[in-house]
Amino acid sequence: MTDSRLAIIVLAAGQGTRMKSQTPKVLHPLAGVPLIGHVLATARALDPAHVVAVVRHERDRVAEAISALDAHAIIADQDEIPGTGRAVEAALAALPADFDGDVLVVSGDVPLLDAATLADLVDRHRRHEAAATVLSAVLDDATGYGRIVRNDSGALDRIVEQKDASELERALTEINSGTYVFRSAPLRDKLALVSTDNAAQEKYLTDVIGLLRGDGHAVEALPAGQSWLVAGVNDRVQLSDAAQRLNAMIVRGWQLAGVTISDPASVWIDRTVTLDEDAEVLPGTQLKGATSIARGAVVGPDTTLVDCEVGEGARVSRTDGTLAVIGAGASVGPFAYLRPGTVIGDKGKVGTFVETKNTTLGRGAKVPHLSYIGDTTVGEGTNIGAGTITANYDGVNKHRTEVGAHARTGSHNVFVAPVRIGDGAYTGAGTVVRKDVAAGALAVNVAPQRNVERWVAANRPGTAAAEAAAAASADTEPDTETA
Ligand code: UD1
Ligand code: MG
Repeated sequence: MTDSRLAIIVLAAGQGTRMKSQTPKVLHPLAGVPLIGHVLATARALDPAHVVAVVRHERDRVAEAISALDAHAIIADQDEIPGTGRAVEAALAALPADFDGDVLVVSGDVPLLDAATLADLVDRHRRHEAAATVLSAVLDDATGYGRIVRNDSGALDRIVEQKDASELERALTEINSGTYVFRSAPLRDKLALVSTDNAAQEKYLTDVIGLLRGDGHAVEALPAGQSWLVAGVNDRVQLSDAAQRLNAMIVRGWQLAGVTISDPASVWIDRTVTLDEDAEVLPGTQLKGATSIARGAVVGPDTTLVDCEVGEGARVSRTDGTLAVIGAGASVGPFAYLRPGTVIGDKGKVGTFVETKNTTLGRGAKVPHLSYIGDTTVGEGTNIGAGTITANYDGVNKHRTEVGAHARTGSHNVFVAPVRIGDGAYTGAGTVVRKDVAAGALAVNVAPQRNVERWVAANRPGTAAAEAAAAASADTEPDTETA
């Protein structure tokens, strides 16, 4: 049920300088979802009355991504005054004027924080009737974070930023996670009093804590169960730390759901992927985007699938695939490249060193070896010979090749599109198919082979080849013609 007394503010206006990137920090992907997507999903899981995201740096790009991830999120623009306090002011101004519930503030760059931890924080805040409750964490290395300063009786006094902290304060190991719950009325009052008079010349949200405390309000800091929950992503080292942590949780989740994964550290699975029971993922495999793996399918080793559908019992080995559908019981690879629009029928095969694009293979149709098959439809039960190339591009336009059912095409063919090969037709080895082949016909266009006798003796005298040929002709007469 919607919590009508809860609004969640997601801070995403900062620049993310330490990422050193053209991409805004909160849009960097983690398990296939932008950082901010994880935070928005967690926020929505609490079912608050409002979600407000504050933007400024790369405003349009970030706002567009936020709206795509959560159509109901309110976008609030921060002005030129910097700091987390100013960001929260902008968000409060975007809330309905009569909202007087609790405000949960989270950072767009803290992706691993889960809904249960946040729900606990809100719950505790309400039970204790606090004006502010801060989620803290105890870290071995607190460098860079704001420190939680407690008084002699252990109660929260204020938060001091690293830049403004004394040597004694810097030695404190309990940090501010940047996640808090506030009662909205005192938050509004105190934010109006916060100045930019500090080392960063920013309007710090953290200053509100000391101001509330000074006024006799109840404020508390609640340490998170595990410190990695509140880990922020500020640079690419922290990004990969978070990615490994999240991936380990995703892989473990699928293992517990019945998927065999023998080497979790080398398997990467996006948050958006689904796997059925008894699927198996072998080492060195990445499953990305909207990929789904059905029961009994074995994927890997060394396979990357993006937005692919793998059918029941299919086998996909050492393959790179994007937007491909692999039928039940089909076999792909080793060393296959499935490009967008590839559809492999049930029990079909795309074998070794085969590239496919925009191609549908019927049930049981096979392209076993060394081929490029593009813009093609192949009927059921057809076998395409080794080393076949569809010449689908005339330099200006792409054309289709159509091969019927149960055809047998020879090795080393070129299908010059547009061209059709009928049901049950055959083509000879080395055929360049330029004209349609009727159902049941055999197409051959290879010139008859001509052997020039004794060419080596005449043209390469004294070579090892000439000696070998002379030795051979001493006991056998050469064939006069070979078909
Ligand atoms: C902040 C906290 C610090 C805490 C740390 C936890 C303040 C003053 N400090 O520091 O106590 O330990 O987070 O990670 O709040 N943002 C805006 N507008 C701004 C500035 C930042 O929306 O003007 C957003 C950022 O996009 C980010 C979040 O606020 O999502 C935190 O900003 P960041 O610059 O990372 O703050 P820290 O220096 O890490
Ligand atoms: Mg930060």
